[in-house]
Amino acid sequence: MKKNSLGLGTAAIGRPQYINIRQEATTTFSLAAFQQKGIAVLDDAYNRGIRYFDTAPGYGMAEQLLLDWVVEKNDPTIEVATKWGYTYVANFDPTATQHEIKEHSLKKLNEQWDSSKELLPYLSTYQIHSATFETGVLDNEKVLNRLAELKNNHGLLMGISTTGANQVAVIKKALDVEVNGIPLFDVFQVTYNILDQSLATIAKELAVQKKRLIIKEALANGRIFPNDQFPHYKNLYASLAALAKKYNVGIDAIALRFCMDSIDPYQVLSGAANELHISQNSKATQFELQAKDIIALKKMAVSPQSYWAERKLLAWN
Ligand SMILES: NC(=O)c1ccc[n+]([C@@H]2O[C@H](COP(=O)([O-])OP(=O)(O)OC[C@H]3O[C@@H](n4cnc5c(N)ncnc54)[C@H](OP(=O)(O)O)[C@@H]3O)[C@@H](O)[C@H]2O)c1
Repeated sequence: MKKNSLGLGTAAIGRPQYINIRQEATTTFSLAAFQQKGIAVLDDAYNRGIRYFDTAPGYGMAEQLLLDWVVEKNDPTIEVATKWGYTYVANFDPTATQHEIKEHSLKKLNEQWDSSKELLPYLSTYQIHSATFETGVLDNEKVLNRLAELKNNHGLLMGISTTGANQVAVIKKALDVEVNGIPLFDVFQVTYNILDQSLATIAKELAVQKKRLIIKEALANGRIFPNDQFPHYKNLYASLAALAKKYNVGIDAIALRFCMDSIDPYQVLSGAANELHISQNSKATQFELQAKDIIALKKMAVSPQSYWAERKLLAWN
């Protein structure tokens, strides 16, 4: 059966720059035009059947844009997920050198919740943005107790997002976090794609524990598209081109569909920056990959260490 589990991530429509391999740098920027484009992407996603929207205060204007849009849409089938822990500081300046500041303190949680709560009743999911061992957030009792309180008071699903070569270790630690004897986290937003498939090692366990899996960076920040900068992916590019031809869709739809068919997540996020992306990305919901094609793509994975080392070198564009 075909699954419509494509959601929209709003990082690319909230701020002029984000991590990808775009080659044309943005030098001029109009806030009003950017805002209009963002609304058009949200409308287009909705018209194509998308009902799950992921955002964060760290994504510039995205959370406010989504809030205004969702109130206007007034459709109870819309589900919103947001996060806390990053503050956007680039003020929409395309030449900014610092874009965001990470802070996993109780003060930051309370400050960001104060505006994110406006997303209720559409808000189903609240997540720690990029939980790591380094910030100590999964050991911070005051933060964990406050998250449990928010979860109970507002009927939220509580989650974490993870990034980096040790995602699986962070997820395992989060699975053990309990407040008053009750597991705290229900949702795991993780990076999974043809190149980094490390999440697959824990996907079954998450399913057994009935946790929600949300996939981000399904297109490996654009690295699945043919690019002379990455000659070591020549075989991957050839395989994806052949599959795109076979299924009569774009390479992006093959990569998104791979995430849906290989580990059965609750949602796979499209990171569409414009209407063309969303129209091409949403083709992923219209077909299924044959088992032999999934097996072939599974063989294209690289080690998480080299995947994340390469990602660190990608610029904010
Ligand atoms: N929690 C976290 O720490 C975290 C981190 C990252 C992402 N996320 C979430 O996950 C969502 C998706 O992740 P992502 O946007 O980083 O990664 P992604 O889906 O791997 O990459 C998206 C990029 O791929 C390119 N693209 C998409 N469709 C295309 C098409 N049809 N043709 C050509 N290029 C295409 C675009 O780049 P160009 O704009 O350069 O063309 C787009 O910005 C985000 O919006 C966000 O909500 C969360």
